[in-house]
Amino acid sequence: MSEPLVLGIETSCDETAIGIVRGRTLLANVILSSVEEHARFGGVVPEIASRAHLEAIHSVLTRALAEANVSINDIDAFGVTAGPGLIGALLVGVSSASALSLALDKPLYGVNHLSAHLAVDALDSSHELSPAIGLLVSGGHSSIIKVSDFASDVTVLGSTIDDAAGEAFDKIARILQLEFPGGPAIDRVAREGNASAIDFPRGLTNDSEHVYDFSFSGLKTAVARYLQKVPNAVVADVAASFQEAIVDVLLEKAIAAANAFGMEELIIAGGVAANSRLRQVAAQRCAESKVRLRIPPMPLCTDNGAMVAALTSLALSHGVPSSSVGLEAQSSMGLSHVFWA
Ligand code: KG4
Ligand code: ZN
Repeated sequence: MSEPLVLGIETSCDETAIGIVRGRTLLANVILSSVEEHARFGGVVPEIASRAHLEAIHSVLTRALAEANVSINDIDAFGVTAGPGLIGALLVGVSSASALSLALDKPLYGVNHLSAHLAVDALDSSHELSPAIGLLVSGGHSSIIKVSDFASDVTVLGSTIDDAAGEAFDKIARILQLEFPGGPAIDRVAREGNASAIDFPRGLTNDSEHVYDFSFSGLKTAVARYLQKVPNAVVADVAASFQEAIVDVLLEKAIAAANAFGMEELIIAGGVAANSRLRQVAAQRCAESKVRLRIPPMPLCTDNGAMVAALTSLALSHGVPSSSVGLEAQSSMGLSHVFWA
């Protein structure tokens, strides 16, 4: 018998995304982002995001089915991000997935967005899934996650206590008068700069109460103060030094977690995984620490539906019970739930 065909829907933030997988094989990954509609506000506006999901979801579904060359009637199970995320945005996905599951009489799984970001690694089927440390870094999250089993045993070891890593990139880019989203802009400008020009603070390092937590607000203040003090600062040097400080802290803590918990693998996901300096330093430090580095391809690192389908597929193969008909969106869903009942 062939493996189950699974469709995953993701609408937790500003991407309307649907992925289709068969077992651990990716068949379609369609992503429509409303990021341009938010750009002039300098951040995602929840009401605009919800409306954009409503307008996009039907055509994204049609395109995903066409890309996978399957009919909606062929789908064996539906997965949807139940949380965490923007409540109005999540509701569009949860309502759509519930309607499809009811109409076609197929099981529905409400999945945790954070787990799904890491479980997308399952779509590289040439690779055995093994326990790992996940470093999840995007505009909405900065967490270090211990993944003992993708479908059943996932624990947050630490998170940011203020801004997410991508948010820090976005805010610093604004201070430097670079465009939104700021991560790609800083990445580009920093290539021309000297990363050791300015010694910016590495927040919460050597803090025994926050071994795996992050704080980026002190770094943001330090950059703002530096620019006040040195009005003619070289933007490329500031960008490169800021980026170096973030990359250093993220990797120091993630690799420390891998060593402390005896994990041989580090998975980096989220939009900030696109950062070229993060990738470079991660490769060096993982090699030194004998940790295998896994960074999914970019369209699977930023928010996407394939990750939801991948985690749903793992739920099926692990015999996880499906969610109930009245599945609700959970805006602050924690990782004590990989799936929402
Ligand atoms: O995962 P994502 O697309 O959306 C969510 O936030 O869930 O991540 C977007 C974030 C933004 O903050 C953006 O500035 C950051 O990822 N980002 C980067 C780079 N590309 C995107 N940050 C640093 N370097 C990059 N090259
Ligand atoms: Zn995300």
